[in-house]
Amino acid sequence: MEKLTILLVGSGGREHALAWKIAQSPLCGRLVAAPGNPGMAAVAELRAVKVLDVDGLVALAQEIAADLVVVGPESALEVGLADRLAELNIPCFGGSRRAAQLETSKAFTKDFCARHGLPTAAYGVFTDAPSAATFLDTLDAPFVIKADGLAAGKGVVIAEDRAQADAAVLDMLGGRFGTAGARVVIEEFMSGEEASLFAICDGTTAVLFGAAQDHKRAYDGDQGPNTGGMGTYSPPPVLTDALVDQAWRELIEPTVKGMAAEGNPYVGVLYAGLMLTPTGPRLVEYNARFGDPECQTLMLRLQSDLVPILLAAARGQLASAPKPVWRDAAAICVVLAAEGYPDAPVTGGLITGAEADFGDAAVIFHAGTARDPEGRLVASGGRVLNVCALGTSLGEARDRAYAALETVSLEGGFYRRDIGWRAL
Ligand code: AMP
Ligand code: GLY
Repeated sequence: MEKLTILLVGSGGREHALAWKIAQSPLCGRLVAAPGNPGMAAVAELRAVKVLDVDGLVALAQEIAADLVVVGPESALEVGLADRLAELNIPCFGGSRRAAQLETSKAFTKDFCARHGLPTAAYGVFTDAPSAATFLDTLDAPFVIKADGLAAGKGVVIAEDRAQADAAVLDMLGGRFGTAGARVVIEEFMSGEEASLFAICDGTTAVLFGAAQDHKRAYDGDQGPNTGGMGTYSPPPVLTDALVDQAWRELIEPTVKGMAAEGNPYVGVLYAGLMLTPTGPRLVEYNARFGDPECQTLMLRLQSDLVPILLAAARGQLASAPKPVWRDAAAICVVLAAEGYPDAPVTGGLITGAEADFGDAAVIFHAGTARDPEGRLVASGGRVLNVCALGTSLGEARDRAYAALETVSLEGGFYRRDIGWRAL
């Protein structure tokens, strides 16, 4: 059997989950993670090359003669990592800079949706406050105001009244998110339940790759500020097979076709953030990567080998690749976050219990951890650990994850106690 050398780019919980799954593959001969994290050290060799260091990553891929590069975060795609690897004929699971605009530019995506008639919120794109105000005059509250570019999940304001909306526009155009806010997107408000749907794409073919539901607010009961995600579960029963079919026909297929037709063939994960409205799924946003922490639950549920799927997508051979097979089980992921997350996370808090072996009951992925000079595990980011579990039911998965959490501690840390509530 061909044994592959794989380079995985990233350092969060999503990448730890990918590394954990890739390392189980009989096809994986050597797994190198850049920069990785202390949890990933158990399954991969870590190399201290940063996600935005394209030259360093390309050099590393060449040095280890990587057969496949798997890119976790969109930031590496935005700086053109996949384009550089393509020039060198190194297979890359992750999209070109132009294809990744589906995530990196909200204006690009909204214009793309309009050209292809995809179901999403009505919108306008503005670079000055008076034109934004004229468009706001045509909408009813609440108002949705977004910075065009990447703003680490913080560039969206749902304004309850017009004064808040005007203030948000001025704030963004005034440079609050740097160049990401040079253009603002104003959208019609859509109501419904949200769900995340994933497709793996090779430029022409797309394969359904599961779904999950995130919990974006920081505190129980969906209270508090928006975060990158405080926990997920999969599969989400609210996203029925019929709704998945509809989203596939009306969104995913035309997107993959449209991107190819416009000369930006889409490779990698196409993550559709859906609003399940009374008229069916409508697009909230696309991301050019796996969701974090949605990915963690998908990796637990995926029964088949991940590597052949990633490789086939990178090589443009998905049509003839084996389809993913899922365990008949529910998975959950609970995020243990640092004090002050998301506004001002306190780093350096001591972590204990994270290295315990929970056997089949639970698995802990590291999301924002580091070793201090004494070698102790400490928090180094806002989301610190991901405690994940599988169960024959979501209730069982939840009980296992929360039981494992009881044995872990992070100074000042907190987590939501209601992950999965919509399905329980
Ligand atoms: P985004 O970064 O575009 O995913 O937006 C973050 C969150 O804002 C989404 O998960 C939704 O909860 C909410 N949101 C964004 N756009 C809309 C919209 N047009 N209508 C209602 N809620 C929205
Ligand atoms: N969990 C939401 C995201 O990855 O964007």
